[in-house]
Amino acid sequence: MNDSFAKEVDFWIKDKPKVLGDLCNRPAAINLLGDMSGKIVADIGCGTGYISRILASKNVIVWGSDNSIPMLEAAKKEERKNNLGIIYVKADINNLPYKNDSVDAALLISVLVYNEPDLVKKGLLEVSRIIKKGGSLILAHPHPSIASQSNPKIKWLKYKSEGDITDGSALKQCYIDKDGIEFHANVWHYSTEFYKSELDKLGFADFIINDLIVTKDMINASPHWGTSHGYFGFQNIKATKQ
Ligand SMILES: C[S@@+](CC[C@H](N)C(=O)[O-])C[C@H]1O[C@@H](n2cnc3c(N)ncnc32)[C@H](O)[C@@H]1O
Repeated sequence: MNDSFAKEVDFWIKDKPKVLGDLCNRPAAINLLGDMSGKIVADIGCGTGYISRILASKNVIVWGSDNSIPMLEAAKKEERKNNLGIIYVKADINNLPYKNDSVDAALLISVLVYNEPDLVKKGLLEVSRIIKKGGSLILAHPHPSIASQSNPKIKWLKYKSEGDITDGSALKQCYIDKDGIEFHANVWHYSTEFYKSELDKLGFADFIINDLIVTKDMINASPHWGTSHGYFGFQNIKATKQ
């Protein structure tokens, strides 16, 4: 189990934007999901529950799951402080404790990149199982082009790789938050074509692929993210289960 998060829980605890993804990736993913008031959304790999809480405060019924006990404990602690009705369970993406066709939508926000190819494929199959026909899946992640970009001005995210970067390549990721604190993780590279073809095989259609630009306003929010803007920092993918 990849629990690099166990040691870094404090880094991820937040109730307002902290890393660049909280200004760019996550709000865009929530917008792409659309109005889910009264519907069931599975926040898979929910971490400390940042997105779960945003959705629950908009009257969405949220089921949060994660395989990291410390991350989930932090999420549950927030829920005890401010009860939003979120139900959290410990689960791996490839073994979810939910019935077939039980959720209106599922989110995998910055989750798949932390998993090796075999687990990503099994996880997508499992997530597909729980989504109702006509329901949607949202994937959100650092833009696939970032790993192969050698732009020294992009300070918030760096990758090291041994050899060429292709689908399933293992990478060392260094993420820097707004206070300059570094978070290191083992991640894997996946292209847009990889995600699309895996979802295609599982019978998803109506793809919306949004390549998200890091704007000057986002960069101005903190010098730790460098001065460079106008590049694709993140990507959101929405697909509908047929
Ligand atoms: C960067 S955090 C993102 C948390 C949340 N989705 C967000 O965007 O705020 C990634 C989370 O994915 C979880 N995760 C990674 N691989 C997982 C897997 N195979 N099964 C369940 N959770 C996983 C980690 O434990 C971690 O909490």
